Amino acid sequence: MVPDGGGYNPHQDVESGGRSVLYFRAPVREGLPARFELTCAGHYPDVLAAHIRSGAEAPGAPTKLLSILAGHWAARAVHVAVEIGLCDVLGQGPLTAGDVAQQTDCDPAAVDRLLRYLTHLGVVRRLGENKYSNTPLGALLRADSPFSDLTRMYGGEFYDAWREFASAVRTGHTAFSHKYGVEHFDYFAERPTTARTFDRSMQAVTNLVADELSRTFPFPAGAMVVDIGGGNGTLLRAILRENPEVSGILFDREHVSCNAVAEHEDASYRSRFSSVAGDFFAEVPGSGDIYLLSRVLHDWNDEDCVRILAACRRACGAGAELLVLERLLPDAETGAPDISLTAPWDMQMLAITGGRERTRSEYGTLLTKAGFRLDEVRPLPVDMNVLVAVPAAAGPDGQPGSGVPSPGFRAR
Ligand SMILES: C[S@@+](CC[C@H](N)C(=O)[O-])C[C@H]1O[C@@H](n2cnc3c(N)ncnc32)[C@H](O)[C@@H]1O
Repeated sequence: MVPDGGGYNPHQDVESGGRSVLYFRAPVREGLPARFELTCAGHYPDVLAAHIRSGAEAPGAPTKLLSILAGHWAARAVHVAVEIGLCDVLGQGPLTAGDVAQQTDCDPAAVDRLLRYLTHLGVVRRLGENKYSNTPLGALLRADSPFSDLTRMYGGEFYDAWREFASAVRTGHTAFSHKYGVEHFDYFAERPTTARTFDRSMQAVTNLVADELSRTFPFPAGAMVVDIGGGNGTLLRAILRENPEVSGILFDREHVSCNAVAEHEDASYRSRFSSVAGDFFAEVPGSGDIYLLSRVLHDWNDEDCVRILAACRRACGAGAELLVLERLLPDAETGAPDISLTAPWDMQMLAITGGRERTRSEYGTLLTKAGFRLDEVRPLPVDMNVLVAVPAAAGPDGQPGSGVPSPGFRAR
């Protein structure tokens, strides 16, 4: 039998201090649900509370497990919605399941069922006359939103790589390399279309923090901002748009940086934006006043992070600042931030990139090893943070950073 609630009635058996009852659910017998009641005179609040608590836990656990096991069905259904363009056709206005099936060239009965599941997931809503429309979440899945690229990445190569997650847990090497034989950035370098999808997919989260950072962080007039591993330049562009006296260099691997300028031609900052190709393990452009590392360090193990940071430190002059944008795991020192996004993304780093999410003090340690001092952490939207670091008195090798433009870098 399973505990199934209970109660206390002070008006019964008043002379005994009231009456308590504990309910139990018994297994179904001959098709009929059975219920057992245990009742006695008196008030036993601790017993009653424990009974109610265990009743709430017992039936909840299997249900919770079932919904965890069904989690990848939800992700898959959303991915298929993007693949067939379901939210694009609903973007034109409310449609019936039949209309959606016709416009996406799919089976009407299957689309009808998919729409019911997507309604349950909050992707679409059902209106009168059997019509459906996008919810705000569904609107994010239209082709003009970078979240559709993110969905394609997560439901495509990354989803397939996750099949090898057990190998990642057993060996500590990425599931991605088990699946494809190379790490993901090298895989992208060979596949321009997938690389573009990945670069656009990064915009999904970057867009959510870029405005806030550009408006609230003091970028001094005349400053040169260098965005290391800056992807297609979404963050740097937002900073240049918001701060008309600031110039910027986007630094990324050749196959990424070569598209960064051509994709976006906006006269308001075009002359202040340049793009440089290179490898941040070797050298990064000097003469920057503010260096950005947005969601770069969580892609790498500690040793690689120190190499990247040391390259930044060598490029930094004495007055330069380094801004590291990352999510943070809870830290004994700073208390427990919400880990609803950080904990699953730590698994994504294990499976796909070979990096990890970290606490504030873990980032502090990496920064110190590379010759920086972590000064402060400011929160940004979607659980992101900006960690503000400055060069410590001496560089990683005991030498001050030069801050001199590195030879060999050519701005586009
Ligand atoms: C997770 S993305 C972050 C992009 C961007 N900073 C953002 O926040 O949207 C990491 C970036 O690091 C770049 N990257 C990876 N390895 C690199 C290397 N060795 N040198 C320079 N950039 C690299 C990738 O091409 C990619 O654009």
